[in-house]
Amino acid sequence: MARRKLVAGNWKMHGLAGDLGEVTAVSLAAETAGADVALCLPATLIERAVRAAPGFAIGGQDVHSADKGAHTGCISAAMLIDAGARLTIVGHSERREAQGESDAEVKAKAETALSAGLDVILCIGESDAVREAGRAVETVSAQLDASLPHGAAASTGVPDRLAIAYEPIWAIGTGKVPSTADIAEMHAALRGRLVAAYGEAGDAVRILYGGSVKASNAAEIFAVADVDGALVGGASLKSADFVPIVEAAR
Ligand code: PGA
Repeated sequence: MARRKLVAGNWKMHGLAGDLGEVTAVSLAAETAGADVALCLPATLIERAVRAAPGFAIGGQDVHSADKGAHTGCISAAMLIDAGARLTIVGHSERREAQGESDAEVKAKAETALSAGLDVILCIGESDAVREAGRAVETVSAQLDASLPHGAAASTGVPDRLAIAYEPIWAIGTGKVPSTADIAEMHAALRGRLVAAYGEAGDAVRILYGGSVKASNAAEIFAVADVDGALVGGASLKSADFVPIVEAAR
């Protein structure tokens, strides 16, 4: 099945008012891109970015699994939507590691976000120790099985609104990238898990690659079977770096 590529930027804890020009520059390029494009920004910038770039997909980087409540410092799906966000990342390895987020928590976050109407980019990926031990595919497959939204949230429309981002932890921000053969092996295995979970609809879920994607390697990565786009960190902060990646997805 032909899936339209998605190229999403993750600004992490970067970005102030002075950086909104980067968002508008990306949004202009997105108008003529042959792929879906989004930027997942710090919560403080979401509303201003939506005003600066109307119609362009702005997302959050995390969401709480509860609708509301006594959760100091957290953000709900309704708050993200209220600010104008259309999507959110869940389960990024930096949160899984630093905030100790489990697969079960990530799954609950994905279900809450999808039910509220946000599209979701759900991240999974192995450590270098797991990769070196030859257990990357089995470990990441199990992580996907345990993190995937199910139940009501997994029904209508979800395959189109859910993307999986395979991000080897050792490739994030390091300049290291797996071989295209390793990416192909992992994405094929994940496609199998998605079809096992959702039936034929699992074929519509996009599987992004993330970890040191830049203009110089994007085209090669996008050409790999079952790579349906990218989640880009460092190279998404400047439109001059990010737009060529978007163009490589054409
Ligand atoms: P990177 O980050 O592109 O800077 O490696 C990717 C990510 O963490 O989503």
